[in-house]
Amino acid sequence: MSRAIAVKLAGPVLRARAEGPFQLRESVRVGPDRLLGEVVRLDRDEIVVQVYEDTTGLRPGIEVVGEGAPLSIRVGPALLGRIFDGLLRPLSGAPERLAPGLREAPPSRFAFTPTAVAGEPVAAGASLGDITVAGGRRLAALVPPGVEGRLHDIRPEGEYGDDEPLARLATAGGEVAVAMSHAWPVRVPRPSRRRLASVTPLVTGQRILDSLFPVALGGKAAIPGGFGTGKTVLLETLAKGCAADVIVYLGCGERGNEMAGVLEEFPRLDDPRTGRPLMERTVIIANTSNMPVAAREASIYCAITVAEYFRDQGLDVALMADSTSRWAEALREVSGRFGELPGEGGYPAYLASRIADFYERAARVETLGGRTGSVTVMGAISPPSGDFSEPVTSHTKRFVRSYWALDAKRAQARFYPAVHPLQSYAEDSAAFAPWWSEQGNPNWLALRRRFLTLLDEQSRLERMARIIGKDALPARQQVTLLCADLVNEAFLRQSAFAPKDRLASPAKQAAMMAVAGRFVELAESALARGIAPARIAGLACLRPLARMGEDTGEDELARLDELRGDLESEFAALVPEEAPA
Ligand SMILES: Nc1ncnc2c1ncn2[C@@H]1O[C@H](COP(=O)(O)OP(=O)(O)OP(=O)(O)O)[C@@H](O)[C@H]1O
Ligand SMILES: [Mg+2]
Repeated sequence: MSRAIAVKLAGPVLRARAEGPFQLRESVRVGPDRLLGEVVRLDRDEIVVQVYEDTTGLRPGIEVVGEGAPLSIRVGPALLGRIFDGLLRPLSGAPERLAPGLREAPPSRFAFTPTAVAGEPVAAGASLGDITVAGGRRLAALVPPGVEGRLHDIRPEGEYGDDEPLARLATAGGEVAVAMSHAWPVRVPRPSRRRLASVTPLVTGQRILDSLFPVALGGKAAIPGGFGTGKTVLLETLAKGCAADVIVYLGCGERGNEMAGVLEEFPRLDDPRTGRPLMERTVIIANTSNMPVAAREASIYCAITVAEYFRDQGLDVALMADSTSRWAEALREVSGRFGELPGEGGYPAYLASRIADFYERAARVETLGGRTGSVTVMGAISPPSGDFSEPVTSHTKRFVRSYWALDAKRAQARFYPAVHPLQSYAEDSAAFAPWWSEQGNPNWLALRRRFLTLLDEQSRLERMARIIGKDALPARQQVTLLCADLVNEAFLRQSAFAPKDRLASPAKQAAMMAVAGRFVELAESALARGIAPARIAGLACLRPLARMGEDTGEDELARLDELRGDLESEFAALVPEEAPA
């Protein structure tokens, strides 16, 4: 083990005189309390270390000991259902705040049923057997990436600790023991056989996302939004309701009380799809603003490594990061302490490449073991004073394919989710048309385009209406405004707190989209028949239409057909008024 002696300390960063060789990114232990740190720079005989724990009380002269390996975490079945700090250590202090049922730590012993046979060759990513975790779910005991050989022996069916050796492999480099969990260096992406194209969206249950701005399974989405525009509520809604097998929720540098919401609420929630505790398939990583800044920088890599591990199990994983801006600020602060030259916004010059590296790890892949799995990343961005041209937002925009811009005006009007339909986009939309067809929405692409065009026209017309007054607009434009309003109110608005409307299945979204689309068609043909806009605006069906989301449960979708029938007859009853004689 290499040693170094600290010569200078500045907050979370220290300089030390090396008395042996260190590697860049090597994990180190600092001082008598063996605080965890990482070598971030090598200068001739000096090393620069960022320390992940509170450095108060450290003095020059203390010892820094190298661990000979990069910063690593253990990934395995014991991650599920737990709450960790930014370095993936069980979060201390939290349990008393948790729901009573979860106070005792989730198990770290699991039932193992071997499937591999002694004497046979096994490759990286292969399964040695099944691990049964909470809720009867099964995970594979994976041979870690980089390990392959002949299976020397394997333990019989039974219960084992997650880090207890289950099997021994004779490899080219000697004998290797494999347990349910294994260590992985967080900054290194876990390898896969190949990346797969994604033609399936990650269903979020949020209409404005799934129907207008979908994100691919294995895709990347950014949620920029000014202060209080609903980023956290949206990410939490996604965590509770999206159709992923495993949720990794990273609270990164947010205020403690905001994180407390997640910590208190999640353990009580039931999975909307199975009725079992949601935590059984969730991993929470909480690194609040009062925790050491360098750990915040590392937390994002821990989170994505955890996500990749479950991807390698052949699962679809969703990673929510709230907020990547706080992570970038940690990067900036630590870089400043090294004395690096600040670039744009005071961030280090490598900000863009770090953001790219992170989002690049989102993917749908064929795993080393031949399974199909995905990691979808959704990251909130909190641009200072809501200015989307700042560095973190503008760089992130280059690397994500779905961009869900939250709008302060919509949020002020309590229009949720406050996703701005004109500033947001989803580059993969066209690829999802066949999928939507299978969900009963063959006209999805056309309807989507129609809705977006209406919303675009609305913003233009509203500006004009502010000047000349709404009633002075030509009849056609008044109808456009009416239809755009309907799309907003009846389709896009969705309350996170309405029991029937929190989550909308693709079938419900398709049915609602069809009803709203039919209204637009009927309104336009009525206009062509010479019906005055005010009479369309006075139709009785508008009220139930605006409430169709919250009034229609998933098992009541037939009501939407009735509503559509009402529309048809109300429009049919509109006859042009006799011109006054
Ligand atoms: N989908 C929603 N439905 C209903 N209310 C919402 C919704 N989204 C946000 N709100 C309201 O807006 C408030 C602020 O939302 P939130 O905390 O998510 O904003 P934020 O963008 O994360 O803020 P910050 O910039 O402070 O992190 C919430 O407390 C809630 O009252
Ligand atoms: Mg927030």
